[in-house]
Amino acid sequence: MVHRVKGAVVRSKGAPVTLETILVPDPGPGEALVDILTCGVCHTDLHYKQGAINDDFPFLLGHEATGVVSAVGPDVTQVAPGDRVVLNWRAVCGECRACAKGQPQYCFNTHNAVQKMTLEDGTELSAALGIGAFAEKTLVAAGQCTKVDPDADPAAVGLLGCGVMAGIGAAINTGNVKRGDSVAVIGCGGVGVAAVAGAALAGATTVIAVDIDPKKLERAKDLGATHTVDSSAVDPVEAIRELTGGFGADVVIDAVGRPETYKQAFYARDLAGTVVLVGVPSPEMTLELPLLDVFGRGGSLKSSWYGDCLPSRDFPMLIDLYRQGKLDLDAFVTERITIDQIEEAFDKMHSGAVLRSVVEL
Ligand SMILES: NC(=O)c1ccc[n+]([C@@H]2O[C@H](COP(=O)([O-])OP(=O)(O)OC[C@H]3O[C@@H](n4cnc5c(N)ncnc54)[C@H](O)[C@@H]3O)[C@@H](O)[C@H]2O)c1
Ligand SMILES: [Zn+2]
Ligand SMILES: [Zn+2]
Repeated sequence: MVHRVKGAVVRSKGAPVTLETILVPDPGPGEALVDILTCGVCHTDLHYKQGAINDDFPFLLGHEATGVVSAVGPDVTQVAPGDRVVLNWRAVCGECRACAKGQPQYCFNTHNAVQKMTLEDGTELSAALGIGAFAEKTLVAAGQCTKVDPDADPAAVGLLGCGVMAGIGAAINTGNVKRGDSVAVIGCGGVGVAAVAGAALAGATTVIAVDIDPKKLERAKDLGATHTVDSSAVDPVEAIRELTGGFGADVVIDAVGRPETYKQAFYARDLAGTVVLVGVPSPEMTLELPLLDVFGRGGSLKSSWYGDCLPSRDFPMLIDLYRQGKLDLDAFVTERITIDQIEEAFDKMHSGAVLRSVVEL
């Protein structure tokens, strides 16, 4: 059976988001059909709309979602109809060379649904990050469904499906932040503020939030920043060094993803420190650094794919911390909106007014 539901689609580069009837097939082998409850608006959705990810239009947007499994393919055992799930965009394969090395968080062959969702005229949709959850129903690989506690607020825990997990994981998994570390986070949108919260959770004693928008810095303080730097007013490299005894931070996380913020991160870390790039650059961006500085400053320059998370390990653990009052996921949900307000949510993202707008379906 094919399900006809409403979904938020971008037909061509830069075109506005339109609500369209989409056709969602019943799950085949390895797939799950999910009724979406909530889906956050992430900057990556805007990147898709702008053609900054790839040109595979039309896109079905949305990927930070909580839902309820409504049907599964014949061979699926890990989830069942009725399960409350948070969707993830890295369902590990268990077979590639990363998985074989015992490093499934780097899986090089993550799974998505095999069947395509389409527009009414049969045009195949590209689901954002293999999810496409600005829709009443979506079709994913069963491994993209992580079963979670049904009592937790879907809007809050769904954010673990992308930005919040990417940020927390950039600190605790990729950056390996430890008790007593100093950490600076450049860019304090949903991802960066989550990195601030992750650093605080891991026991960092100095957590420096950097943004060009003072409103973002206020929120970062609420989530664990010990210091803030308005980099529209002062040089963030100098400011971070001053706040860390003149040396730089042990770990600096770039949650913007631009050459200038990466350079700031590179020079604002201590010798032998770590830079984590979690913001996603666009294809035309290039970086030039003196190679002698790359050598002479030592340490490690890392990228963080989805916070190097393992959804099956990390989502339930973070939801436990949320329910124990140790991780304030509610603070990330600035507003709850309807599916026809996604364009407005993109505008608000630019104006700095919200951390996350969450669509309730
Ligand atoms: N690596 C991953 O797995 C992953 C996952 C989700 C999102 N992302 C990426 O993370 C980035 C941030 O996403 P978001 O949802 O938090 O976006 P956002 O728009 O909510 O936040 C971006 C923040 O950066 C600030 N900013 C912009 N330019 C700056 C500059 N030059 N210096 C300092 N701050 C600056 C903005 O004021 C804003 O607060 C995006 O590039 C997004 O695509 C990566
Ligand atoms: Zn794999
Ligand atoms: Zn995202």
